[in-house]
Amino acid sequence: MSEANFNITATDKAGRYEQFLEQIKPCIEGETYEVSLLANVSAALKEVFGFFWVGFYLVKDNQLILGPFQGSMACSIIKYGKGVCGTTWKEKTTQVVPDVDQFPGHIACSSLSRSEIVIPMTVAGEVKGVLDIDSDQLANFDETDKRYLEQLVSIIIKTLYV
Ligand code: SME
Repeated sequence: MSEANFNITATDKAGRYEQFLEQIKPCIEGETYEVSLLANVSAALKEVFGFFWVGFYLVKDNQLILGPFQGSMACSIIKYGKGVCGTTWKEKTTQVVPDVDQFPGHIACSSLSRSEIVIPMTVAGEVKGVLDIDSDQLANFDETDKRYLEQLVSIIIKTLYV
């Protein structure tokens, strides 16, 4: 992945994601190594959108282990079906959580986290990992985030795992 200088001029969320995807796509597609790619995607999401915490958990030894991320230190292992990330792995669907305190079994890596979105990285029915984004604002994620972050994950999957 080469140096990314993002030029985001749109003021609405969908427009910002459109520009972000257009600009990061060639950077992702030029990358070979999983850790490098996921680290740079985490950095880019943090830089452009200013998310409180953004990173990846990867399935290893039948559990989720902490992968590349941007933000504070986080829990390193999450079990299948546990928390928002483990639920995403189990359900194989994106979880949009407007209030983490209302999500049964939510794992609080930071007490400042208020809302969360987790997108599965699924290849041929098998979850390879998840993209996890936390906000310090309530209800910060909606269908727009879901649609574009799923597109981002789809580009990552095609580059790394297909
Ligand atoms: N809140 C997540 C745990 C990971 S941290 O948010 C970084 C969960 O409930 O799975």
